[in-house]
Amino acid sequence: LGQKIYTYDQVDSTNLEARRMAERGAPDGSLFVAETQNQGRGRLGRSWIGEPGGGIWMSLLLLPQVKPSDVSQITLIAGLAVCLAVRQYSGLPALIKWPNDVLIHGKKICGILTEMTAEIDRVSSLVVGIGINVNIDQFPATLKDTATSLSMEAGKQFARAPLVASVLNAFERHYFTFLEQGITHEFLTQYKQLCATLGRQVKVVKPGYVQEGLASDITLAGELVVDTGQGPLVVNAGEVSVRGI
Ligand code: BTN
Repeated sequence: LGQKIYTYDQVDSTNLEARRMAERGAPDGSLFVAETQNQGRGRLGRSWIGEPGGGIWMSLLLLPQVKPSDVSQITLIAGLAVCLAVRQYSGLPALIKWPNDVLIHGKKICGILTEMTAEIDRVSSLVVGIGINVNIDQFPATLKDTATSLSMEAGKQFARAPLVASVLNAFERHYFTFLEQGITHEFLTQYKQLCATLGRQVKVVKPGYVQEGLASDITLAGELVVDTGQGPLVVNAGEVSVRGI
């Protein structure tokens, strides 16, 4: 992965750019990295900040032979990869908020947006977009209480290139194993150890629906199991937002 790297001073969204370039024949494993994004996209239709110089805004184009239902597992792999890379690079106690936000001291330093195009039961292209707040010293008022950056947590600035390399290495290791063997118990054990959501009371929210319960497990398919009192609720990452309460 990352054999071919496309860099941009400014782009609307590295996810959109990756998809456009996929249509023009960009190879499997291409990496798209931008200094600034002016239309950064987040999960569930949200937007994402993309201020110059402060973050890692990048997307990985993958062309695997997998089914659309395998994509949530690849998303978990990306979350674990960033978590491991951030821990190793900064020494900070990063944890994963299911499915793939990365938090430090309860605040978000990384978000991941995985988007795919598929024909009936086959993925034709997959874009894994990763945003990491590296050297951001101030967030807008609306994000102040929920977002943080490596520089704010560590009190110093970090070079971004080594972290990009480290995320790619960690992702690649787990991704290739996944393509050969599917999600392994070893992967799941490591993921669960770093998952801050497990053992917490959570609220599962989707339009017109709210349910509270205890986040108790993660399945081999990457779903979150929430014990609601009326039996377990198995939650798929695509459809809901899970909030701690
Ligand atoms: C989220 O937590 O809502 C996901 C945020 C994903 C942001 C990254 S930044 C690089 C890539 N390009 C985008 O437009 N979004 C992702």
